[in-house]
Amino acid sequence: MKFGAPAESIELQQMTWPEPGPGQVLVRVSTAGAGYPDAMMAAGHFPLLGEPPFGLGEEAAGEVVAVPPGSRFTVGDQVTGITGFLDGWGGYAEYTYLREESTIRIPARMTLQEAGGFPIAFRTAYAGLIDRAPVNAGQVLLVLGAAGSSGGAAVQLGKALGATVIAVAGSREKLDFCIRHGADHGVNHRSEDLPTRVGELTGGRGADVIFDPVGGGTALAALQAIARDGRLVLIGLASGEPVALDAMDMLMRNYSAVGVLATPKDTAAEAAVWDRLADLTDRGAIRTSVGHVYDFQDVPEMIAGQTAPGAGKSVVRITSA
Ligand SMILES: NC(=O)c1ccc[n+]([C@@H]2O[C@H](COP(=O)([O-])OP(=O)(O)OC[C@H]3O[C@@H](n4cnc5c(N)ncnc54)[C@H](OP(=O)(O)O)[C@@H]3O)[C@@H](O)[C@H]2O)c1
Repeated sequence: MKFGAPAESIELQQMTWPEPGPGQVLVRVSTAGAGYPDAMMAAGHFPLLGEPPFGLGEEAAGEVVAVPPGSRFTVGDQVTGITGFLDGWGGYAEYTYLREESTIRIPARMTLQEAGGFPIAFRTAYAGLIDRAPVNAGQVLLVLGAAGSSGGAAVQLGKALGATVIAVAGSREKLDFCIRHGADHGVNHRSEDLPTRVGELTGGRGADVIFDPVGGGTALAALQAIARDGRLVLIGLASGEPVALDAMDMLMRNYSAVGVLATPKDTAAEAAVWDRLADLTDRGAIRTSVGHVYDFQDVPEMIAGQTAPGAGKSVVRITSA
């Protein structure tokens, strides 16, 4: 591929996959999940990537076909995890390498479609709401981009942690989707005054934690309704720009902002993250909110659509799933 509009820049290529090295697991891909970062990568706006060509797709689920000596996985395991996309091995392919430390066996309750869209969104929500914010039982969590990939996972994880969750999205259909997937309340950022509605829903107190994958004006509006001692969790900029923080406002209203990059701290800590996410899935507390499911030949269309996504996590079927 090259940088540009997905329909022109993404092409199929014949590849060979060498035996996996230490820390890699080679899988035959069943499903792979999409998100706004795909659109950023295709356009050349993703900060961590080098020059094309490279394979797109940050996450995938499938069957293990090869492992290096000493791996904790075996051939035939059904797994889901984060791909080696930063090294050029994306999930929109017949085979891909998963990063062993960010891979789990697919929990019994999880379908293959849910599995393909699980790792990035929930790893991100975990980093924001458990490692960095954190959000505690009884607190109010406001989730921007709540019908999207990381926002949808934050709604579910927030509920699992015992928070009251207010979902923010741009249409009635998306808000209904959020409520069906666990949110307590919904606010339409296009047709309602966000700070006023959050004030009404919280008895004037505001939100203890704001999960922000959107940035821009929506995040600024949400900040007007942050509670004293509140935390703004900086995830991304789906609106096109990060939120413009005002240090004086933070000082005067006693709130803080925490940056989040959902990457492993060390192997033991990463294993604990995935164990807990698998356990929450086993207990039925979290699951991927699957939206549109695409066929493999529609990957360019799917990636182009990530700049204005519908409700739920976009997933592509690579083999029959
Ligand atoms: N920090 C990390 O480790 C990490 C990990 C994963 C992703 N990210 C970043 O998080 C961001 C979102 O990624 P994602 O995959 O969650 O995106 P996504 O699934 O595309 O969701 C983004 C949501 O943002 C909303 N949105 C878009 N433009 C908006 C605007 N102008 N105002 C208000 N809402 C707007 C859309 O909802 P509505 O239509 O409802 O408005 C959409 O559902 C990206 O910047 C990505 O790079 C960061």
